[in-house]
Amino acid sequence: MRGIPLFPEAASSFASEVDALYLFIVAISAFFTVAVSVAVIFFGIRYRRRHADEVGAHIEGSLPLELAWSIIPTLIAMVMFVWGAKLFYEMRRPPAESLQIYAVGKQWMWKFQHQGGQREINELHVPTGRPIRVLVTSEDVLHDLYFPAFRTKIDAIPGRYMPLWFTPTKPGRYHIFCAEYCGTKHSGMIGTVIVMEPQQYQDWLAGGASEGTMAERGAKLFNDLACTTCHLDSGQGRGPSLKDIVGKAVELNDGSTAVVDEGYLRESILNSQARVVKGFTPLMPTFQGLISEEGLAALIEHIKSLSPQAAAQAPALVPASAPVSAAGTPAAPAQGARR
Ligand code: CUA
Repeated sequence: MRGIPLFPEAASSFASEVDALYLFIVAISAFFTVAVSVAVIFFGIRYRRRHADEVGAHIEGSLPLELAWSIIPTLIAMVMFVWGAKLFYEMRRPPAESLQIYAVGKQWMWKFQHQGGQREINELHVPTGRPIRVLVTSEDVLHDLYFPAFRTKIDAIPGRYMPLWFTPTKPGRYHIFCAEYCGTKHSGMIGTVIVMEPQQYQDWLAGGASEGTMAERGAKLFNDLACTTCHLDSGQGRGPSLKDIVGKAVELNDGSTAVVDEGYLRESILNSQARVVKGFTPLMPTFQGLISEEGLAALIEHIKSLSPQAAAQAPALVPASAPVSAAGTPAAPAQGARR
């Protein structure tokens, strides 16, 4: 909101609509606060008791009046609800061709990882004009990744991926905050998002990533952890083939199905017995505690790279869903329960 110094800059595609909705609600609230206060004061004076023995008039009520003060506020509230819900869904559903970034919160810093392998701490470089999808998680306690200039935020929850997205519209440097009290240095858990023109961003990308892309690092990890011995491309291994599995629905041992996305892959690596693909026995060891958040993200990017056509697809509502790749779920009796 230009001209109102209390508002941060509006630098994402939905920032102005969030502001408009916010101002609409504030304006309606202010209007009724004033209207009710003025009426209370006016009637208090106008109909005050003038003699000690004065008795108020007998009033029966008024149907039209009662209908009006029920129906009009209902309509106004419905406008807020429908507008808010529309915006909420829009903000929770990243477009298919989003640029993917992984974010990990930890006491007290934000770590970001780009698909190209670039890693940053408390800084995030993004280009203008492209939807950016950030998968957010935490290594310790609850945090909340907040970009005031983009008017969006999401909780960072240990043990799961939460998707957040925005399309930056204006080059510049903007705040990153943690918006969930997370310990003594919560207020210092801040950073800067640097929005660049696409060409500048390409130059920046070219400068980083000495250890290869995320998928490359993931492929190495895939070998080192011996995932290759069971997950054969032929499908004849002890675990399901991970080729072209991302974004698809797989049948599970308990008869239910699961869409293979980042959340499912994550669960299948860390808690491998939870939702096992139909026809496989629960042989896979759990990797909980044996793999870092960054390694896990790299592994997931590697698995996604085995499903090239699904590589970037759609997203999910609040819980961690994004089109990803095939689940390494060799193993056990699926409980079907979501995390
Ligand atoms: Cu992290 Cu507050």
